[in-house]
Amino acid sequence: MTGTGKSALGTYVDEQRRETIADRVEELLSEMTVEEKVGQLNQRSVSFVMGPEDGNEDLEAAIADGEIGSVLNAEGLEAKQHLQEFAVEESRLGIPLLMAFDVIHGYRTVFPTPLGQAATWEPDLAERAERVAATEASADGHHWTFAPMVDVSRDPRWGRVMEGAGESPVLGSAFARARVRGFQGEDLTEADTMLACAKHFAGYGASEAGRDYNTVNVAETALRERHLPPFEAAVEEGVATVMNAFNTIERIPASGNEDLVSGVLKGEWDFAGAMVSDWNSFGEQLPHGVAADEREAAKLAMLAGSDIDMVSEVLLEELPDLVRDGDVPESRLDDAVERVLWVKGLAGLFEDPYRYFEEERRKAVTLTEDHRETAREVAERSFVLLKNEGVLPLTEDTEVGLVGALADSAEDTLGAWAWGGEPEDVTTIRAGLDDHFGDVPYAPGYDLPGEVTAESLDEARDIAEEADVVVAVVGEPADMVGEAASRAHIDLPGDQRRLLEAVHETETPVVALLMNGRPLAVEWLDDHLPAILDVWHPGTEAGPAIARTLTGEVVPSGHLPMSFPYTEGQIPVAHDRLPTGRPAEDSEEDYVSKYLDVPNDPLYAFGHGESYTDFAFTDLTLASDAFPSGKALEATVTIENTGDVAGRDVVQLYVQDLVGSRSRPEKELVAFETVELEPDETAEVTVEIDEDDLAFWTDDEKWAAEPGEFDLMVGHAADDIVHTERFTLVE
Ligand code: GLC
Repeated sequence: MTGTGKSALGTYVDEQRRETIADRVEELLSEMTVEEKVGQLNQRSVSFVMGPEDGNEDLEAAIADGEIGSVLNAEGLEAKQHLQEFAVEESRLGIPLLMAFDVIHGYRTVFPTPLGQAATWEPDLAERAERVAATEASADGHHWTFAPMVDVSRDPRWGRVMEGAGESPVLGSAFARARVRGFQGEDLTEADTMLACAKHFAGYGASEAGRDYNTVNVAETALRERHLPPFEAAVEEGVATVMNAFNTIERIPASGNEDLVSGVLKGEWDFAGAMVSDWNSFGEQLPHGVAADEREAAKLAMLAGSDIDMVSEVLLEELPDLVRDGDVPESRLDDAVERVLWVKGLAGLFEDPYRYFEEERRKAVTLTEDHRETAREVAERSFVLLKNEGVLPLTEDTEVGLVGALADSAEDTLGAWAWGGEPEDVTTIRAGLDDHFGDVPYAPGYDLPGEVTAESLDEARDIAEEADVVVAVVGEPADMVGEAASRAHIDLPGDQRRLLEAVHETETPVVALLMNGRPLAVEWLDDHLPAILDVWHPGTEAGPAIARTLTGEVVPSGHLPMSFPYTEGQIPVAHDRLPTGRPAEDSEEDYVSKYLDVPNDPLYAFGHGESYTDFAFTDLTLASDAFPSGKALEATVTIENTGDVAGRDVVQLYVQDLVGSRSRPEKELVAFETVELEPDETAEVTVEIDEDDLAFWTDDEKWAAEPGEFDLMVGHAADDIVHTERFTLVE
């Protein structure tokens, strides 16, 4: 279990340290009782601030008795130091605790939500963001983050799409790798690194009807081609831990799914780290109806290959007897404990269990100007200009009016899953525009989530009538996105649209800023408003980032990581749809696959994003029109900035396998690269397409590319293909 194979976990420490850790793990394992082994698998959630709270009265005694191996949500360095002292000095073997926290998009410096970061199409930005997050969170005593969330999803009804990288397994895999690298750094023994956790394994993004915690019904092909690749990428990048999903796969909950955990993750992929359950997911095998009692639940989880039990405590209660009764082999228990100890060793806790608890370091690295600047840069690059009919950028003498309660809400600007952030650190959109333009006339227009009154609308109209341009901030408050926040309707919440109608009626041009955690149904905005900028939940540096973008200091460069449907009735709508037997495109026929009331295509396609300048892909050239198995094909795109200002664009390459043993998508993102160009500047982008890029889950149940003809397409978005070239993969 050195983790230097496909699972690169072991490469985060040098050979000598690997041997030292392995020796310590072996020594501890040989001394541990069954109860002490089980204790290492037990994780307790605490908000321990120097004094037990409800449900944790026994916490110190449980730690001293070796019943707890890790905790999550511990608050404050002093409390964490206190808990660690109990583990190291009071328990028989002195094994340190792992301390975990959900560091999802920043810690004290809050970054745009992961979906917003994916809209940059620049994984290295996400890596930089996670580097900052790990630096701040580790300085606050956290060893382990429950991130990156790498669930692929095509269903905006599901509130957790804001935690991921959208609909493409290719884009998702690139961000998964970058985030693992960002958190784990170069050497996990460095005090500013954190153990990462790829979650939720697997298929959670396909929750039926977009309803959170719901059943998942995915075919093996969809699981293999869409939902698993970002997890495999994270494992290849050396992610230290993986988290079970709540849902079933083939009607077996992921926590107790042996095919998934032992077959794929630990078997095919040789994952060398530890598998942690999601919140009580071991215990939830009872309501799933696959375990009659907690003993059965503990047995199923352990025999499937799961390791750490987050808060259900079924292992603590039941596993010693299961092992003594021979229902769970002690070798399985030893494997689980070895993985937990291995991860603790990699984090450097055996040498120095208190290495993360340095108040001076915490003060020195938290919310620094550098971190703020990085957060602002990432926010600026996350914004997607959905539409602009000449209104943006604003000029310095533009009389701006501002409406929308979200513009002034620091807490909502942080978005969901920002527990480490503080609203008082946030520069809101309103504050950012005030800083830039001087006091901007403002009216909230609605009470969150979207209640308007005649007075609130009148106030907003007055603002609009006095302005050259009115900026209207609409979208979702933080509590309408994230976990347990599914929405059956994905339009603007409440009566926010009535605010837009009111200011639109004044005939003052309206720039809509969308603050959203998911794709929204915004057809009315697209039909009536001249400019729409999607700013997601932009985090601590929202204000400066948005002011600089609206005024042209920064040129928007974001592109959608997820399609925006016209309506929830279209869901799922994504770029990588199959052609069907009756393609509707370019057909006048009635009996084809279409709706009577909306188009098949989304309102805004995957990859869509405008700029203040223009880019042209003037050429797509293939090094040859055929390439043999085992080789790669070089494709070169020529891109030119044909506009008047410098800007950044994403060269998006899509591929179609024209004939396969299974029906293949009309197009799939296969490669992408961001390019920054001055006006009139031209650049060539060359990418290599190899067999892995063309592989799929074939009809004989293996991952392979099949010889035949393919189309390679380059486009500004999935619905804006500019050039197509055909090539052949030969035997
Ligand atoms: C939650 C989430 C998971 C999170 C965990 C700990 O239920 O599903 O993503 O990491 O519990 O907070």
